[in-house]
Parts: sequence; structure tokens; C-alpha cells
Amino acid sequence: MPPITEIADLKRLYKRRVPKMFYDYAETGSWTQQTFHENTSDFSLIRLRQRIARDMAGRSTAAQMVGQDVSMPVALAPVGLTGMQAADGEIKAARAAERFGVPFTLSTMSICSIEDVAAHTQKPFWFQVYTLKDDEFMKRLFARAKDAKCSALVITVDLQIMGQRHKDIKNGLSAPPKLTAASIANLATKVPWGLEMLGTKRRFFGNIVGHAAGVTDPGSLSSWTAEAFDPSLNWDRIKEFRSWWDGPVILKGILDEEDAKQALNVGADAIVVSNHGGRQLDGALSSIRMLPRIMDAVGDKIEVHLDSGIRSGQDVLKALALGAKGTMIGRAFVYGLGARGQQGVTEALQVIHKELDTSMALCGERNVADLGRHNLLLPKGFEDEWV
Ligand code: GLV
Repeated sequence: MPPITEIADLKRLYKRRVPKMFYDYAETGSWTQQTFHENTSDFSLIRLRQRIARDMAGRSTAAQMVGQDVSMPVALAPVGLTGMQAADGEIKAARAAERFGVPFTLSTMSICSIEDVAAHTQKPFWFQVYTLKDDEFMKRLFARAKDAKCSALVITVDLQIMGQRHKDIKNGLSAPPKLTAASIANLATKVPWGLEMLGTKRRFFGNIVGHAAGVTDPGSLSSWTAEAFDPSLNWDRIKEFRSWWDGPVILKGILDEEDAKQALNVGADAIVVSNHGGRQLDGALSSIRMLPRIMDAVGDKIEVHLDSGIRSGQDVLKALALGAKGTMIGRAFVYGLGARGQQGVTEALQVIHKELDTSMALCGERNVADLGRHNLLLPKGFEDEWV
């Protein structure tokens, strides 16, 4: 097999190996997918300034995210159904992340449970929660995350209601996959994936089934999901969730400077500029395009991370140069996981690290902390073309 040299190599292998419904789940945006596509294409509008004859020896990508040491400022984002991309997927991704020295974020909608991931890893991971109505279930989740020694809580604030992904409906997305004529025909072409999946017990939503009231078997899960999210969420409620956790809290899903200013009142340690990978409001601007104005509004008051659209180390570099202190990758690691399990996640991280490190050097910088606006060339109006 030819060597993996870029994230796109992993994506190709991933597409071949994993059932269509899970590939589509990851690789789809909401409605027309405009925002999903612009999340990546807007990165290519930003250019880097090449510098020469500067000391490029002894470089470091080491940094901190919410006060924690990271080998590069790239966390694995929470991604639902990760354990359907590869058997025991969350455990594999968490192990790859801890060995690489970057944070892994476990989604509430994971297949492996919090306890399971904790039992199979050495270092603390981050845990993600949605803003759900059921206080009792939420409090138990927080307590379970605390018992598992999770080192930060990521509260997803952009999923009060869910954006529609056409393919998920058409594919009849479920975990484990429902057996229909179409899914059976597709599964028949995914034998290595299927054999691996038959070898694990982890095929249901591990944090939910048996924990949320009324959800004792996976069949009742879809109705629970539809009912569990809180459409009446407000900032007081977010503040209340914050008060239930005594470690670092990261608010994920801020895309507007007014919301970023509100977030300052909650007592969060960081915000993640994100449009949920283009899976929620189709027609929203890309995260990278919204980053400068959010930096202007709150960048000196709170740590800002960037999520949505990162597929390379150059993308990470651009986000950092625009002021983000950290980034999150979702699809980029899922491609690796689906393609080649834990090894694939490691390869995704290696690719991104190498691209970041080399591009940083070619920009004449030795340290990620030194990256700044001076490393970039932006098209006129990039920051304020849309008013
Ligand atoms: C859930 O958060 C999703 O984007 O599917």
C-alpha cells in the first residue's frame, strides 16, 4: 500500500471500508451543504507569507489548551457514533490521542461509554455534553465524567434542535445499522468492518442505553433523542451546567460575536468557534471566516478555539495565526479511524503535525505561540466582506 501522506489518503480508504450510512453520517452537512463546503474552501482563501533565512532549527508545536499541555494545539472533537466507524472506535481514538499528547473528547452520543474509555486509557480525556432537558440524566453524566477523571467538560451549545441531513434520513441511520435490503446489500461489501464489529459488544449508545430513564433497549433511542434536547435553552441554563462542573469548561458552537460576549458571563474557560462542521445552520458563514470578528470581540478575555473545516496542518496554522489558541478536528481523525483504526488516527495526527511544523518553518517561525496575523495574507474584505 502506498504511504499515507495526506488526510485525503485516509478518506479514500475510509470510504471503501465503512458502511455507507456511517460514511454519509460523517461526510454530510445540513440541507444544501453550503456551510459544510465553505468551511474547507474558505481556508484556501487565506495565504501564507513565505519567509527565508530565518533560524528554523529547534521548532516546537507544544502549547496549552485550557491550561493543559498538548504536543500541538489540536484536540479531537466530539463525534457521535465514532464506535460505528470502527469497532471500539472511541477507545482506539482516545488511545491514539493520548499517545500523541493531544486531548480526546468523548461525545455523549458515543458507542463506548465513559467508563469504558477510562478503563482503556491512561490519561484523562475530555467529555462532551449536550444541553438536555433531563436534569437527573445530566447530573449523572457529570458525575460519571468526574468519576472517570475527565479533565475538561465540553458543552455543545449549538444543538438545541437538530439541522437536517438528508442522507441520514434516506439511509435510515441507526446504531447498530437496521437491516434493510439496501443496508444488507451495502454491508455485504464491508466484510472486514463487519467481522470486526461482530467481535465487539460495543454496538449501542454506551452512555445512554441503560442510563437514561425509559431507554433500556436501543430501539427506543431515536425517540429519546428527539425528545431529550432542550429547545428552550438559555444562558442561565448554560451557567447552571457550568456550575455543576468544577474543572475547565469549554463552550462549543459559538459563531457570532454577540454570543461570544455572552459566553464571557458564564465563567467558561474557553469557547470553540464552530458551526458544528456545517451540520446545523446551513447558510451560516464558515468558522474560519467568523474567527477574526470573534477574536476582536473577546479574544483578549477568553481562550478561543476553532473547529469546522480543518483538514491539514496548514489549516491549523491559519487558525492559530488568526488568534485561536487551539483547534479541533472531527472528520480528519474519523477518516483515519475508519480507514485503519487506532493506527489511522495516529497517522492523521502525524500528517497534521508534520504539515503544521513544516509550514510554520517555511513561514519563518519556530514556535506556534509566535504565529500571528503577520504570517498571513488575506484577501481584502475577508474579515468584513459579510456585514
Ligand atoms: C451530532 O452532534 C451530530 O452532529 O450528528
